Amino acid sequence: MNHPMQHVDRETLQTSLPDRVAFARDFVGFSDEDGETLNAAAALVGPLVKGVVDGVYAHLFEFDYTKQSFLPANTGFDGDRPKDLAALTLDDPQIAFRKTFLTKWALKVFTADYKDPKTWEYFDKVGLMHTGVAGFEHRKGKALMVDLLATSLTLAWVEDVLVAVVVPLPEETLGAEMKLKVLRAVNRILWIQQDLFQRHYIRDDEEMARAAARINGGGPAQAPKTVDSPFAANPSTKTILESISVLAAVLVLAKVAKDLW
Ligand code: HEM
Repeated sequence: MNHPMQHVDRETLQTSLPDRVAFARDFVGFSDEDGETLNAAAALVGPLVKGVVDGVYAHLFEFDYTKQSFLPANTGFDGDRPKDLAALTLDDPQIAFRKTFLTKWALKVFTADYKDPKTWEYFDKVGLMHTGVAGFEHRKGKALMVDLLATSLTLAWVEDVLVAVVVPLPEETLGAEMKLKVLRAVNRILWIQQDLFQRHYIRDDEEMARAAARINGGGPAQAPKTVDSPFAANPSTKTILESISVLAAVLVLAKVAKDLW
């Protein structure tokens, strides 16, 4: 059976958050009902969030690759700080403070109003603020850079924990049908959050244009506009393309001048 086909504009997917979210929602099937399911589960999941956040931090501290992000002090903090990774523990007051941010995010996943564009703006800024850009107003002057690899795997780990927490809940607490609904909604929203990290790290369209130019001497018909991301637009490619356009314009003018002669 043929389904009606929707048009999706490739350029606005890269430049417009509402378009990106609308497509991601449509594609993974995150409906208004999923938002309501998450909200309905908030009372049940809320008390479990602290344990999940503690677990995330303990897990991030198991690898120097992820633990090292937590060694620098928060901007404005001038108290004593651990000198190296070995001295940094989960009881550090700065870690307790940072846990409050992740708790806020986890609670937001379950309590957010998914019809409000501000919800998606928040999830988008959470992604952006890990790429060296402040993102939030309150983070002006702070720069945090975490690899996409680490954020992706952390999201995967969070999802795994939520599955492990929700599935064994007794039937009286959460029936099988609701469990399935909650886990599908969680899966969909976490993948959208993943995309809202990814969109600030990966400029696949520009990378493809560069690869196409290298391979065929061509590229997609139109390069998308840049967005507010430190990784957007490669200046050298831009300069080369601009030089080519100038050269082409000069050649056309030369030909016109010759024809007129
Ligand atoms: C599931 C993936 C992740 C989510 C949802 C997440 C979410 C957040 C949020 C909401 C904040 C605070 C934003 C604010 O200031 O309001 C934050 C800050 C931070 N995140 Fe993440 N994060 C994730 C993964 C990671 C990973 C993998 C690392 C490091 C390996 C990391 C390191 C940090 C650090 C160091 C801060 C800054 C705290 C500060 O400046 O005080 N995050 N994150």
